[in-house]
Amino acid sequence: IPVDDFDLVLFGATGDLAARKILPSLYRRFVAGQMPESARVIGAARSKMDDKSFRKLVRDALAEFVSEAKRDKKTIDAFVAQCSYIAIDAKGEGGWEQLKEAVRDEAVKAFYFSVAPALFGPLAERLRSYGIACENSRLVVEKPFGVDLESARQLNADLAASFDEHQIYRIDHFLGKETVQNLMAVRFANVMFEPLWNSRYIDHVQITVAETVGVGGRGAYYDKSGAMRDMVQNHLMQLLCLTAMEPPNHFDADMLRDEKLKVIRALDPLTPAEIVRGQYREGPDGPSYVEDAENPESRTESFIALKIAVSNWRWKGVPFYLRTGKRMSRRLSEIVVQFKETPHSIFDRTEGSPANTLTIRLQPDEGMDLSVTIKEPGPGGMRLVNVPLDMTFADALGPQGEEIPDAYERLIMDVIRGDQTLFMRGDEVEAAWAWTDPIIEGWVERRAQPYKYAQGSSGPEEALMLMHRDGRRWRELEE
Ligand code: BG6
Repeated sequence: IPVDDFDLVLFGATGDLAARKILPSLYRRFVAGQMPESARVIGAARSKMDDKSFRKLVRDALAEFVSEAKRDKKTIDAFVAQCSYIAIDAKGEGGWEQLKEAVRDEAVKAFYFSVAPALFGPLAERLRSYGIACENSRLVVEKPFGVDLESARQLNADLAASFDEHQIYRIDHFLGKETVQNLMAVRFANVMFEPLWNSRYIDHVQITVAETVGVGGRGAYYDKSGAMRDMVQNHLMQLLCLTAMEPPNHFDADMLRDEKLKVIRALDPLTPAEIVRGQYREGPDGPSYVEDAENPESRTESFIALKIAVSNWRWKGVPFYLRTGKRMSRRLSEIVVQFKETPHSIFDRTEGSPANTLTIRLQPDEGMDLSVTIKEPGPGGMRLVNVPLDMTFADALGPQGEEIPDAYERLIMDVIRGDQTLFMRGDEVEAAWAWTDPIIEGWVERRAQPYKYAQGSSGPEEALMLMHRDGRRWRELEE
């Protein structure tokens, strides 16, 4: 479905995220026929550059980050013809009059801040004072949205001085991932999951976001963040919310975000025993965390595992175990809902756990599987086995060879459509920081040292213990 005509002004257009994600995603939507011919992408950054050089930069980004199957010269030529550039001085006056001339009042105006958060306020203020932004304007901001509650409040206040909440789109790109949206479809468009989705039938939930990359190259940012700020406060928190929330009355931005907010507010504070932090050692794939971070004294975690209680009626006694880390054995993101065993077994149980498991895989191989217990085929008697009812989306739905769209494609088009459902609301971000802050303060005060773990592993042993103590275990990363 084509979207309304738009002018998208990309601040930070010469940056890494623009090249890796934003420009390629716009291009792919262009290829899909979703970008109107009159729509325009206006790059804005500090560097002096003419349209021609910017178009070259766009071409280079597409050559590097778009699959060959989607690249042909004619299409690329047509796309870059819709791109132009204005040099802007974020904290000064240079370029703003020119930008005002360039954007059209009759089109949707989207301003994408792919810049350091310190520039959010000054940019928003100039968009307003130069009369560039109007009622039909939207503001997109990238993470990190603050480093704690106080800074997030400040950013919210800076943006609110120039824009209304309904114009502000705070990106958490995990929400644009196909399977994350499917989690809502599975829960609320089927009759068979929701009645079981509670402490009566669910034993626990595991959320894993494991990565193989290290932090080399972005150590300066990462060392001040750590896994808690970089991944848990936003991405894993969103996954937890969508798994745990009550059904909203309607698939509507504010109703959905109200429900997520209630989950965040129901999270108990954590005790030190419910937190395991790790740092990768030097290994075959690269230097140690402290070398990557260029800080030999660093106590920042590149891995974290948490045991979280959601204190409400539905989830009483059902722990949510979260873990995420760098330089782990495999790139894997999944949500595992572990159901309880049947109340009584009429069969002799052989090995393994016969309980049902619903696994929602974000990557790789987006899809879900539901493990069910059946009889092992053959004449050997009533032997039970657990087998997956597997549904890999690409196999089940996609036309042959079709790529699953990148999260950014969906999110950018939602901005143009004016749909805030998959974006974080200001109060939601603040609530997430309000829960995160005391946890971080706790380990800073205790001067807690992260455990070392081997590269290519599933994190420190202590993270395994976090579940073993409760008679449970993490799903193997390698299967
Ligand atoms: C980013 C984090 O928000 O998400 C990175 O800053 C992380 O540290 C990335 O690697 C993971 O995103 P994806 O889409 O590759 O799973």
